[in-house]
Amino acid sequence: MPNLKTIQAGIAKLPFGPPKVVVLTGATTGIGSYIAQALARTYASHGSKLRVYIVGRKRERAEALFKFGKETAPGSDWRFVEARDLSLMADVDLVVREIERLEGQGGLEGGKGRVDVLYMSQALSPMQESKVTPEGLDTQLSLLYYSRIHLIRRLTPLLLAAPTPAHCISIFAGSMESAVTPTSLPIGTPSQYTMTTIRNTTVFMKTFAFEALAAQHAGKISFTHIYPGLVDGPVFYSDVNPLWFRVLWRVVKVLVSWYMTSPEVCGDVMVFLSTGKYAAKGAANEEGVVGGVACSTQRELGGGAYGVGQRGDENKAVSYANVRKEDTGEKVWKHTVRTLEEIEKKITASS
Ligand SMILES: NC(=O)c1ccc[n+]([C@@H]2O[C@H](COP(=O)([O-])OP(=O)(O)OC[C@H]3O[C@@H](n4cnc5c(N)ncnc54)[C@H](OP(=O)(O)O)[C@@H]3O)[C@@H](O)[C@H]2O)c1
Repeated sequence: MPNLKTIQAGIAKLPFGPPKVVVLTGATTGIGSYIAQALARTYASHGSKLRVYIVGRKRERAEALFKFGKETAPGSDWRFVEARDLSLMADVDLVVREIERLEGQGGLEGGKGRVDVLYMSQALSPMQESKVTPEGLDTQLSLLYYSRIHLIRRLTPLLLAAPTPAHCISIFAGSMESAVTPTSLPIGTPSQYTMTTIRNTTVFMKTFAFEALAAQHAGKISFTHIYPGLVDGPVFYSDVNPLWFRVLWRVVKVLVSWYMTSPEVCGDVMVFLSTGKYAAKGAANEEGVVGGVACSTQRELGGGAYGVGQRGDENKAVSYANVRKEDTGEKVWKHTVRTLEEIEKKITASS
C-alpha cells in the first residue's frame, strides 16, 4: 500500500510534466471538491499548467471552489459546465458537447483541445430513494455505472488527444469485490434492490468494463476505480437521509475517526491515481514512477485497468478469479453497449 509520503512525492512531480486538463463530474460537493482542492495545491506554483472543468448542478458551489483554486494556484483556469441530471445519457451528451466546444476554442498553453484526466464521483446518498430515470435505468446504478461509462465513451476523442496517456478515474467502491456465483453473474439491474446488490453489480461490471476499455485504448488511456475509504462530507448531513442517520452519524464519526480519511489525504490519493503508477495498458515505464507501476485487476503489471482501495492499493489476487471465464468481460461489455445504444437510439429518435 503506498504510504502518504510516497503519494505526496508522486503528485509533487506532476506539475513538472505536461499541462493538465482535468474534468470532474459530481464535484460541487464532497470527494470531487476535495480532488479539485488537491489539484490546486499540487499546481500551486505552476498555475498556468492546470485547467479544471467542474461539471455539476450548483454553480455557486463551483464558484466557491474556483475562488480557492485561483487563489491557491494563480494562473490556473477554472470552468463550470452545467449539468441537469447526469443519470441521463442525454444530459451527459450535452455536457460533453459543451466541453468539446470550450476545448475547441483553444487548448491549454497553446496545445490542442484535450482531456488528460477525468474524475467521476456523481452518486446519490446510499440512503436516498433511487427512482427509474425517464431513460429506463435505475438512477443510482446509472450515476455509478452507465452514465460514467457513457461519459468515458463520449469523451474518448478528447482523452485520446492528450499528449501523454490519459486517466479515467471512477470513485465508488473499487476493489470491494464480494463473492459472486458463476450461475448468476451480477450484470444489469439486480432483481433484489439493496445497497449491497447495487454495490456488487457496479463493482463487478466496472471491473470488466474497465478491462475492455483498457484493451481498446492500450497505450492511450488508463482506467481506475477506487474505494475512497470513509470520508466526511455534506452527504452525511443531507436531509435526503433519515433524521436517525444524521443524528447517529455525528456520534459514529467520533468513534470511527481513527479509520476515516481526511479530505486533504483523500484529495491527494485521487491526484496520485493520475500518475504513471496507474499506467495505460502496455505503456508502463518504471523509470521515475514513484511507488512502482501498479498491477491491474488481472494482476498484470501496468495492465491499464485498476481496482484499488483507499490509498490506491491494489488487490493481491486476480479480480473475480472464481467466476472469470474467457467470455465474462465480453458479456459485461456487450450488455453495457447494448443498454447504452438502446438509449442513444431513443435520444436520436426524439431529437
Ligand atoms: N464519502 C464517503 O465516505 C464514501 C465512501 C464510499 C464510497 N463513496 C463514493 O464516492 C463517491 C463520492 O462520494 P461523496 O461523499 O463525494 O458524495 P457527495 O458529496 O454526495 O457527492 C456526490 C455528487 O454527485 C452529484 N450528483 C448526485 N446526483 C446527481 C445527478 N443526478 N446529476 C448530477 N450530479 C449529481 C452531487 O451533486 P449536487 O451537489 O448537485 O447534489 C454531488 O456533487 C460516490 O460514488 C460515493 O458512493 C463515498
